[in-house]
Amino acid sequence: MKPLKIAGIGYCVPETVITNDDLTKLYETSDEWIYSRTGIKERRVVSGNETAIDLGYNAAQKALNKSGFKPEDIDCIISAASAPPQLYPTLSCTLQTKLGIPNQVPAFDLTAACTGLIYALQVARGFIGAGIYKTILIVAADNNSKITNWEDRGTSILFGDGAGAMVVTESDDGVDDILSIDISADGSIGQMIQTNMPSQCCPLVEQADEVGTGKIIMNGKDVYKFAVSTVPAYVEKCIEKSGMKSEDIDYLIPHQANQRIIESIQNRLKYTDDKVISNIKYYGNTSAASIPIALVEGVEQGKIKLGSTAVLCGFGAGMTWGAAVIRLRKGIC
Ligand code: UT7
Repeated sequence: MKPLKIAGIGYCVPETVITNDDLTKLYETSDEWIYSRTGIKERRVVSGNETAIDLGYNAAQKALNKSGFKPEDIDCIISAASAPPQLYPTLSCTLQTKLGIPNQVPAFDLTAACTGLIYALQVARGFIGAGIYKTILIVAADNNSKITNWEDRGTSILFGDGAGAMVVTESDDGVDDILSIDISADGSIGQMIQTNMPSQCCPLVEQADEVGTGKIIMNGKDVYKFAVSTVPAYVEKCIEKSGMKSEDIDYLIPHQANQRIIESIQNRLKYTDDKVISNIKYYGNTSAASIPIALVEGVEQGKIKLGSTAVLCGFGAGMTWGAAVIRLRKGIC
């Protein structure tokens, strides 16, 4: 397989902040309850006409700038989108036009919820590794706030909006930035997190008993149990596959779903706090965007030094999960 280089990474979050105290205007809850169970203090949400398209566009621009590639160098676009503003045209096709990427390149979305970034990276790796495409733009962007049931205090406390983007390309120095990567799914437990589309049958036939609401429905307890029982051991296996020892990897950059889940992975790897990147306090769960947001913000805040290695891991609806051990080259963000 041809080696892959991570050339640039960017992120974007909306300006509008909703604090835990703000949520007390919607239902009976408290900052203490939310923070102690999730580690979240606030989240960002789109407002007015702003959507995940705007966030994805800004994140992609930043990733392109850092990578040194121009829109015309991109020969494939893959977006991880599970709460996009529209099903089609896809986020990827819309961004293709907005970014000025020439029309002839393929552009498609994949849905793997909060694991979307790692799924997209695995697909991109296959394309680059096989020599099918050379330089791929990956965008992870969701406006979760638009599909959140704001009357459900069990789910709406968790989610926020945001976008991350990565430019990956065939490596020009023979070094592969993916030391190991794996993705997985178990549809038999998929009912734990659902978003069922509003729909109707043809008016000439019998109607379905239930129609979807288009909102997130989640059994938080089951998701929590699934995450802490599956993800830590899985991450350890992915590290084994990379040929590295967990202590030799510089950072853990996990999906930001719940601080207690992050800590369960941290404890398994026996990592000290300085190796674990967590910004859930300020953004909540931004689904597939949470890993690139945490990564780039970690660099901006000096928590991550580039020229290092990191293990990424994600999990979410499907149920899906995935992990990757990657190199973080200098200058990527
Ligand atoms: O990418 C994957 C995304 N999903 C996740 O990562 C979800 C993982 N799960 C979780 O983070 C936790 O399950 C939650 C934070 C969502 C919920 O915490 P929990 O400890 O599992 O609470 P619960 O749902 O079992 O509810 C316990 C109690 C209930 O009251 P009763 O029935 O015991 O009287 C709830 O009604 O807490 C109540 N409750 C709340 N109280 C105040 C639920 N939500 C709230 C709230 N504020 N926001």
